[in-house]
Formats: sequence, structure tokens, C-alpha cells
Amino acid sequence: MSSTIAELERKRTAAKAGGGEKRVAAQHSKGKLTARERLDVLLDEGSFEELDMYVEHNCVDFGMPEQTVPGDGVVTGSGTINGRLVFVFSQDFTVFGGSLSERHATKICKIMDMAMKVGAPVIGINDSGGARIQEGVASLAGYAEVFQRNVLASGVVPQLSLIMGPCAGGAVYSPAMTDFIFMVKDSSYMFVTGPDVVKTVTNEVVTQEALGGAITHTTKSSVADLALEDDIETLLAARDFIDFLPSSNQSPVPERPSADPWDRIDESLDTLIPASANQPYDMHELIKKVLDEGDFFEVQPAHAGNIITGFGRVEGKTVGVVANQPMVLAGCLDINSSKKAARFVRFCDAFEIPIITLVDVPGFLPGVGQEHSGIIKHGAKLLFAYAEATVPKITVITRKAYGGAYDVMSSKHLRGDLNYAWPTAEIAVMGAKGAVEIIFRGLNEVGIAEKTAEYEARFANPFVAASKGFIDEVILPHSTRRRIALGLRKLRNKALENPWKKHDNIPL
Ligand code: COA
Repeated sequence: MSSTIAELERKRTAAKAGGGEKRVAAQHSKGKLTARERLDVLLDEGSFEELDMYVEHNCVDFGMPEQTVPGDGVVTGSGTINGRLVFVFSQDFTVFGGSLSERHATKICKIMDMAMKVGAPVIGINDSGGARIQEGVASLAGYAEVFQRNVLASGVVPQLSLIMGPCAGGAVYSPAMTDFIFMVKDSSYMFVTGPDVVKTVTNEVVTQEALGGAITHTTKSSVADLALEDDIETLLAARDFIDFLPSSNQSPVPERPSADPWDRIDESLDTLIPASANQPYDMHELIKKVLDEGDFFEVQPAHAGNIITGFGRVEGKTVGVVANQPMVLAGCLDINSSKKAARFVRFCDAFEIPIITLVDVPGFLPGVGQEHSGIIKHGAKLLFAYAEATVPKITVITRKAYGGAYDVMSSKHLRGDLNYAWPTAEIAVMGAKGAVEIIFRGLNEVGIAEKTAEYEARFANPFVAASKGFIDEVILPHSTRRRIALGLRKLRNKALENPWKKHDNIPL
């Protein structure tokens, strides 16, 4: 018996050694943790239970039978984050560069299947040289098996990708189909074709970092949601983030005890809106004052800043927040902000996370560039996402809600459940001056000023909309948190179903 146990220990030790000391040292010298060290930070201490530790590749070419490493370049299993079950895979760059073989893929697929069966999130740590070159099409088949599961799991269990090294070629499409992507600055990159191929084909000279680093993907391409400083910061952010998410589409939102009174009054909100309609203010202030303890986990903070998206809690339960940001492009909706918010709204709807929408929007951003790049289709994404969402939807209009953008931002007409406005709200087709210049074309300046004042007096308020029942109540800014908390309590058992369909046809 003791020799059997010793043999088991020997095998475990061999698997845990990964690609050996030299390669582990090389990994560390790049400022990166190993696959197992990463899981130690990500998961609750001692909670990791590994599966498939002894799996080896089945490649018979290029001398591969002589080179086997137990585990085959990926560590898989389950563990807990603050006590809640998650499934994980962590690619081991020290073993064949973390490249994906058929067996490596099978290991990932196994934990994805289990996660879907039991209803728990999947967190993938990507650090890989891509398809295992020695295996050819078997490795490509492995990718496709993973892709298929990414799609089947989408909307069933949350999927989070942490890019902590190379992720190139076909490999990018697995994270791309997960719900959120966090990247490590300087040590991770994602691209379909690397700088060398780009140079050959288009003659463009670009570095790895500029082509597909964390900053590029969180600012320009919006492929990734967050850029973090190093491995530790990324893994700790993932822990915080998972705390906000339900385990599956069948699980309630997680609850965390909060000492923040649900009816906390915040007088400072009464002076948040500046005297001049054209002066911006920071919508983050309102968001933080509404949420428990001001705790807001912003998603895509560096991209399309004219709309803010992220998670927080009210009375300890997760909510999704979508808010126009007057500090950026005056809070206009444009292509990027519409896409960003639409995807966020759909995530919340898929996982039954109530949506709080804070509105200060002067309309869609005008411009030839916007029109030619398809603002009609992209703007429709957000409209579509709000209209199909059946989760509790609470809207607060703080200032402007003009034109089509008023409709889009979770209006009553898109089945908003509770639509509130501050007394400073202006709900109209457009700003007063612009409206007068169209209706009273040819008037002189004095005439325009007079008519503008008249139009403002008539429409620059929430009461016309309230008189039609489009606004449920005009609320005092200081009581916004209390109103939202009460609203969420009321809507807790909301039941609403869309007509049966195979799936919808959202404008893509
Ligand atoms: N298949 C098999 N082995 C791979 C691999 C792959 N796709 N990618 C890397 N490796 C191996 C390397 O042979 C090396 O093995 P060794 O430790 O036994 O020498 C090890 O992984 C580390 O790779 P290395 O190239 O030394 O690391 P690096 O940090 O200098 O570069 C990459 C990393 C990813 C840029 C580089 O390995 C690379 O270009 N890989 C191929 C990418 C690719 O074309 N993939 C296939 C298409 S998706």
C-alpha cells in the first residue's frame, strides 16, 4: 500500500512540476505567475480540487511520444471564490507553451460541461502559444469543441476570461465568446494575426503591445473589459467581480450583507445638476451615492466613456447600472456607447440582474462618420436590448432625455417598470433653441430668444411626460437611493415573458 501511495505522490509531484524549474523561472522572470500559482490567488485557500492531472497528449508525430508532461499544459478543476463554486482552467505556459492539444481541449471541455450541468461560472486563464503545432488539425478540432461549449454556455453560466500571456490566432475566439475579458498590462496580448504577418500582408509596422495589448483592447477595440497592472491585481479583480454575478441563469443574484441603510438620504444630490444646462457633472457621483457603500465595479471604463456600465448592490443584492456620462461627448449616444451598453444590458437580462438606468442624454451623436459607420444599426442594438429585457428595469432621468435617445434609455415605452425623473429633467424631442430654430425658421434673434423661453417653459420639465403617465413619479434627488431600493423590493417577483421564438434577430 505504501508503495502505491508513494507512486501516487510521485505522479502528483511530476504533474505539479509543469515544464520544469527552468521554464518556471522563465515564467517568473516575465513577471508572470505559473498556472497553479494563479489558481492559488484566484480561489479560496485550499478550495481547489483538480481533475485530469494525469492526462497526457496522444500525438505520435515529431518525437512527441518521448515528450509527455502529465496535465498536458492546462490545470483544470473547481474551487470556490468567497465560498461560491466556480470551474476553472489555467493554461500552463511552461508545458509546450500552454499550447492546445486535443487532450488539453478535452480537459477544458470537461469542466465546461460540468459547470453547465451544475450551474456555476467558468473562469479561464489564457496563457498559450495557440494550437499545438505538432498535432495539426486535431488541435483545431479541440478549439472548435471549446468554442461550441462557449456558445452553449453563453447565457447559462457566466464565463470570464483572464488573458495573462499570449492568446493569438484561433485561440482568441474562445475568450471572445465569453462574457467578460480582463487583460494584464504589458504581459498579455490578443490578436488574430501577429505583427509579422501584418507586416507581410499590409506593410504596417506595429508592436505586439500596440496591436493587441491590454491598453489597445480596453480603449480602442473594446475586445477586453479591464486592463490590470499585473497577475495578482487581475486575479483579485476577478474574485471581486465574480462576487457580483449569479452562479447561473437559474440562480438568484448573490447577496452580501450591507450596513448601508436602504433609505439613506443624500442631500448633496440636490445640487448635483449644475445651473447651466450645458455644464457637465460626473454621473459617477450619483451612481456611487445610490449603491451600497459606494461600491461600483465598472466594466469597460476606458472605452466609450459617454456611457457608464457596471455592477453594484442595493440592499446587498446585485444590480447592473447603465448611465449616460455628461462629462464625455455631453453624454450623447454614439456607435461605441450603444454597443457597449447593449451587450451589458443583455448580460444582465440573461442572468436576471435588475437594471438601473440613469439618464442624461442630449440625443444621438451627429456626424457623417457616425452615419457612415452605421449608427442606425448600432444604436438599434441598445434599443433592442432594452426592449427585449424582462428583468426589473428602473429608470431615473436626471436632466436631458431628448429625442430617440429618450426612447432608447429604458423608457416606459420599452417596458420600463418604474420610470422616475428629477425635477430638473427635461423630456423633449430636442433642446429648446434647436426646436425653435426649426419651428420658427426666419425669426430674428430676439424672436428666437422669446420663443426659446416659451418652449423651455412648456417642455423643459418632467411634467408633460408625467401628465401622460410616461414618468411614474417626479422624485427628489436626495431620495434616489430610497426610491430605487423600494422599487427593487416591489419588482422582486416580477414575471414577464417574451413571445416564444427560436431566437431573436438583434441587428448585429
Ligand atoms: N505548439 C507547440 N509548442 C509551442 C507552441 C505551439 N503553438 N507555442 C510555443 N510552444 C513551445 C515552444 O516550442 C517552446 O518550447 P520549449 O520550452 O520546449 O523550447 C515553449 O512553448 C515556449 O515558447 P517560446 O517560443 O520559447 O516562448 P516565447 O515567449 O519566446 O514566445 C510565442 C511565445 C507564443 C510568441 C511563440 O511561442 C510562438 O510564436 N508560438 C507559436 C504561435 C503560433 O503560431 N501558434 C499556432 C497557431 S494558433
